[in-house]
Amino acid sequence: MSVLIRGVRCYGEGDRVDVLVQDGQIAEIGADLGAPAGCDVVDAPGQVLLPGFVDLHTHLREPGREYTEDIETGSAAAALGGYTAVFAMANTDPVADSPVVTDHVWQRGQQVGLVDVHPVGAVTVGLGGTQLTEMGMMAAGAAGVRMFSDDGVCVADPLVMRRALEYATGLGVLIAQHAEEPRLTVGSVAHEGPNAARLGLAGWPRVAEESIVARDVLLARDAGARLHICHASTAGTVELLKWAKAQGISVTAEVTPHHLMLDDSRLADYDGRDRVNPPLREAADAAALRQALADGVIDCVATDHAPHAEHEKACEFAVARPGMLGLETALSVVVATMVAPGLLSWRDVARVMSERPAQIVGLPDQGRPLEVGEPANLTVVDPEASWVVAGDRLASRSANTPYEAMTLPGAVTATLLRGRVTARDGKIPA
Ligand code: DOR
Ligand code: ZN
Repeated sequence: MSVLIRGVRCYGEGDRVDVLVQDGQIAEIGADLGAPAGCDVVDAPGQVLLPGFVDLHTHLREPGREYTEDIETGSAAAALGGYTAVFAMANTDPVADSPVVTDHVWQRGQQVGLVDVHPVGAVTVGLGGTQLTEMGMMAAGAAGVRMFSDDGVCVADPLVMRRALEYATGLGVLIAQHAEEPRLTVGSVAHEGPNAARLGLAGWPRVAEESIVARDVLLARDAGARLHICHASTAGTVELLKWAKAQGISVTAEVTPHHLMLDDSRLADYDGRDRVNPPLREAADAAALRQALADGVIDCVATDHAPHAEHEKACEFAVARPGMLGLETALSVVVATMVAPGLLSWRDVARVMSERPAQIVGLPDQGRPLEVGEPANLTVVDPEASWVVAGDRLASRSANTPYEAMTLPGAVTATLLRGRVTARDGKIPA
């Protein structure tokens, strides 16, 4: 099976070229390539060709909450969003704390076949925060788990975190921390600041995140370990990352599209769709996060795609479940917040959405250069397109998007996984 992608600009640079994909690889790049017999042609004149996106942080809800998402619907959302690999967080029911669950997630993802679904293993049994899981068993299983996180909750006990970092270092796997000192966020539902105070919402202070980031970079230094910080959300976290990287500490970090674009001024209408953890911060934090992503202090974009059902969101703000959809809107939010203002080039988009995430977890076949002989994990983006977001028209089983009715720039027009078209013009091919 072969696919000819016609008229694209690699990384949005240089002349238009045709890219011939054969046997799962990029076979040829050149002007006016002929289409071999039986070849599928993707016409994309002037569009941008990028390596397929890699999401280090997504919640696919299988097993346990399939009424909000499952591996099939989540994979469709990922493919439509331009992703060729996603990391599915461990806070499922049962928790992904054993090879039984992690191998199921991997195998189900392969069966669906739209995106590589890499399970994230839990750091502690049942996300309980006390007993380390058998990370080695999950790493050695069919899924070959390479990232571990209790995301949803913080590994709060410093001794448990220290042991996790030491154990992970021995195995060559990555610990990703949801940085939230739980004693500082008891009852919190929104960013602690003037807006939450005026609205009568209990506050989640920046220092709850920053105190854990500070502690954990020191623990990582002490253990000679690698550490990844999930969903950085404050200007102070940016300062800490800058400091830690300058010390040579092996820390990486992600930022979500919603923390790049949105801030807590939205909370005035108490809409449960705006509840997320960590919370939307102040405009100055969002500006600092955008600059940090541009500067490389924050390494990559990760969606924290967190589907929730209508009844879990359309309720009092304080009881709404935290989390927002992200897979199908991520590219457009990055275009709006980073590309349009000139903070990132298209080549930089490849870096923050594909290359760095693949490097951080060590995926050998993702985030590769657009060159002959490389695996054809590819995303085609129409930079001139714009679209109106409608939650109920997304492929995700849930509709909890904070961008409802917004017009966003840029659209993924095709995604290829190992040379197979997994999404095209907003649809999953039959
Ligand atoms: O908003 C969030 N939702 N933050 C998390 O850390 C977990 C996630 C979820 O699982 O819904
Ligand atoms: Zn989290």
